[in-house]
Amino acid sequence: MMVTDKFEMGEDFAKRLDSADPLAGLRARFYIPDGSIYMDGNSLGLLSRASESSVLRVLDEWKTLGIQGWLEAKQPWFYLAEELGAKCAKLVGASPREVVATGTTTVNIHSIINTFYKPRSKRRRILADELTFPTDIYALGSIAKLRQPNARDILVLARSRDGRFLDEDDIVALMDENVCLALLPSVLYRSGQLLDMRYLAEEAHKRGVHIGFDCSHSVGVVPHYLDRWNVDFAVWCSYKYLNGGPGSTAFLYLNKEHFDLEPALAGWFGYVKNKQFDLSLEFEHARNAGGWQISSPAILSSAPLEGALEMLLEVGIESIRQKSLQLTSYLMYLIDELLSKHPYNFGVGTPREEERRGGHVAVEHREAMRISEALRIKGVISDFRPPNIIRIAPIPLYNRYDEVWQIIQGLKEIIDGKEYEKIPKQRKGIS
Ligand SMILES: Cc1ncc(COP(=O)(O)O)c(C=O)c1O
Repeated sequence: MMVTDKFEMGEDFAKRLDSADPLAGLRARFYIPDGSIYMDGNSLGLLSRASESSVLRVLDEWKTLGIQGWLEAKQPWFYLAEELGAKCAKLVGASPREVVATGTTTVNIHSIINTFYKPRSKRRRILADELTFPTDIYALGSIAKLRQPNARDILVLARSRDGRFLDEDDIVALMDENVCLALLPSVLYRSGQLLDMRYLAEEAHKRGVHIGFDCSHSVGVVPHYLDRWNVDFAVWCSYKYLNGGPGSTAFLYLNKEHFDLEPALAGWFGYVKNKQFDLSLEFEHARNAGGWQISSPAILSSAPLEGALEMLLEVGIESIRQKSLQLTSYLMYLIDELLSKHPYNFGVGTPREEERRGGHVAVEHREAMRISEALRIKGVISDFRPPNIIRIAPIPLYNRYDEVWQIIQGLKEIIDGKEYEKIPKQRKGIS
């Protein structure tokens, strides 16, 4: 896939890109917060009319059917987790039974890592990295403490050479005979680097290491081929590029080779589906990703996903990726051309190569925190990540090229007018 790098200056050019954009019409199918330029869909995606209507339908089914909704709703709730999993499987290159909508990302990490963690005398380490989202490390650290209370060296972290990126070969070098499994991010939440999952999976398997990915920052914006890459397991949340809503149900992928493993955190919704209500005391898990469910599916937190996934599948992940690369390339071009020199001094902390970046751009500046606040005052919603990053995520489904142009003008004004100097130095808020 090659995206044009022939950009031009001026708002007219941005408008021409918008008029030539085959996905431009999708914006009208989303609710964009009034008066804002919303570039934070890598943290919380926006509500679509499609999601609103699937949620309203489920509410109505609850109203009119009560408990009968489990089997008689349009999409019976009893099978919703598996049905959403099958839809999402098409986005990640998996077969329908390998993906299930369940729980939350962190709980799914506990469940799947405990399932795969089978320490043998020497091979008992878990490999992760120092740039991953902290919840992954908290979960792995607590698993290490619970499972190996007397060992201090279970969790091994691959280090970054520059604080921004990871070198795949540095990670591979740590996959030695002491490591039993690895959990790595697909896209780093700060710099936006996309790791080469195919290469890492191949190298892990050559060394007898099971490997899985936290794909929270890539599913919905980057194509995945989890089966073809032979990944063992993966987890991802659905409130970012999948637009499932705050705290929406997460996903878990399990390669079919592993369906016979015993789920480590067993619960009644992981039971063989057609025998679940026999309520036997003997646990027998479904031989598919659904076997890794623990509790009753959160129907109201899953309902938005029906509409959201249908829209993503209708558009197609390849076209989404194409526009995402074009938007982020344009953003980086404008930073380089207009904002990289004195007095602006902005930098791009995201890899330039298309195959090495996800859906957001890390814009770096010494005053990033206060500039990010100043952007909010102008109605631009992006976010700040310490110490010096403003993350900007132009979302292919609802952002325009013209909005990218306007953000750049906003950043320029903030520096020209020293607007950020009026913002207190203490950080506030959660995003
Ligand atoms: C990479 C990554 N993993 C996990 C999470 C947290 O997921 P959850 O709140 O579903 O446990 C986040 C949250 O932003 C994330 O960015």
